[in-house]
Amino acid sequence: MKYDGSLSYKGTVTPLQKVMLWRRSFRKYRDGVVTAEQAAEIDAAARAFSGRMGFDSPAIRTTVAPAEFKAVVGAALKGVVGKINPWLPFTKAGAMILAIGNPLKAPVFGDRRVGVAQIAMVMEAAVLHAASMGLGTCWMAGINSREIEKTLGLPDEREIIAISTLGHPPAGISLLSWDGMTHHLVSKKRKPLSELVFVDRLGVRIPDSGFSQIGSIEGDALGAIFNAARVAPSADNVQMWRFVIAHAPETKMALLAALPGGCRASFQQAPLLIAALAEPWFVKGSRREQPFFMIDVPIAISHIVLQAAELGIACAVEFGVDEAAVKAAVGAGEGFRAVALVALGNQRRNT
Ligand SMILES: Cc1cc2nc3c(=O)[nH]c(=O)nc-3n(C[C@H](O)[C@H](O)[C@H](O)COP(=O)(O)O)c2cc1C
Repeated sequence: MKYDGSLSYKGTVTPLQKVMLWRRSFRKYRDGVVTAEQAAEIDAAARAFSGRMGFDSPAIRTTVAPAEFKAVVGAALKGVVGKINPWLPFTKAGAMILAIGNPLKAPVFGDRRVGVAQIAMVMEAAVLHAASMGLGTCWMAGINSREIEKTLGLPDEREIIAISTLGHPPAGISLLSWDGMTHHLVSKKRKPLSELVFVDRLGVRIPDSGFSQIGSIEGDALGAIFNAARVAPSADNVQMWRFVIAHAPETKMALLAALPGGCRASFQQAPLLIAALAEPWFVKGSRREQPFFMIDVPIAISHIVLQAAELGIACAVEFGVDEAAVKAAVGAGEGFRAVALVALGNQRRNT
């Protein structure tokens, strides 16, 4: 990604921000083995994140066994959808992170399957952990997931939501390679914060003075949190996430009313509430049956959760919201989707 200086906190780039900046989708790898210990470390990091979030659906499994890797690649490439990744048959990555889950274990609201969102968040935690170890990844949803499920012999209720290659990235990228071209033409561009974050209503931009006047979270921290979301990966780099900060008491009241009763009281006490939505989008490709807004927006939310944690700010996420009520509260028009409400707490003093 092109570093524009925005990913920092009080003038320094934090360790997590360095990882987020280093991570990108690697479609070219050099020779080198990912060890079973490294795989176990990634799986443990994903499990720890899932446990901290209180999720029950996701399972991240990193496979380094050559036979299984080959079988997953072969299955992923089958059919029309499998042709989206022409680089995959030749990859030297050697290992794969599999995002597997039982989406029915968590609530389902039509096409808003909370389990899918949870798996996406945990997968991104795994991807970032891999990056912190110097390992390259590439999220892939343009895959024949049914074939992979069959190949792995997964029980009916288990689904492959996405996979990612895992391997040693090359020292440099040639501009003329598939990796270089996709990186330069599509991947490294990100929308400015002014197109992603709004105050009280969708379309109402953050004031020129920045975040310092909004809510009771320190402005620098809030800026860091939204910039962390901004650099998250998304399918086709669409960046469909939109965030609306509840600043006016009426907005907060209206958003609180959209929450399930069980978590309303704790969200009410939070200094800041944020509605996470998806802008209507058009995803290219012939057979992408995944509801991408339940994958991409949660990925950005996982960056929010992790950045908040690094800055010592408590963070809660609720996907089980009344979608119509959230949309009405922030003036979201037709086609927009409401994904979650995010609550931010007070910053611990020692950070
Ligand atoms: C849910 C999801 C699915 C993706 N599917 C593919 C894929 O099938 N093939 C691919 O090459 N890249 C895929 N990507 C990678 C995106 O193109 C990439 O994240 C985006 O362009 C941003 O670039 P970056 O990851 O290098 O920052 C996917 C990313 C996400 C989040």
